[in-house]
Amino acid sequence: MTKLISCSAIALTLVAAEANAQGPGDPKAGLDLAQRVCSECHATVVGQDRSPNPKAPTFSDLAASPGMTRTALLVALTTPHAGMPMFTLTG
Ligand code: HEC
Repeated sequence: MTKLISCSAIALTLVAAEANAQGPGDPKAGLDLAQRVCSECHATVVGQDRSPNPKAPTFSDLAASPGMTRTALLVALTTPHAGMPMFTLTG
């Protein structure tokens, strides 16, 4: 299963989970995307403190984790890891 998604939209979604959003992109589009594609497993909105898939970290946790940058996110998303489907990112 291959999905084409915009990495800036994803990065923005994560950043938007934190208060200090910055950088280009459309946070609302990112949130829509996250809710469609990622919310099956991840908690994608602030205040949702548990993910549907207990193994998946909430986006708030991810955004708040030290060292989580756009680059770290891209690496995370382009590296296979257990339980999470691979997505094809377009820049
Ligand atoms: C089928 C369930 C599922 C879906 C859909 C899913 N994830 Fe995940 N995701 C997981 C699980 C499970 C983990 C924890 C994997 C681990 O710890 O190895 C995870 C971990 C992550 C991590 C942390 C990676 C790391 O190496 O620390 C990020 C970032 C992430 N997901 C982003 C996303 C984004 C963005 C989407 C939507 C485009 C998404 N996920 C969709 C299940 C999913």
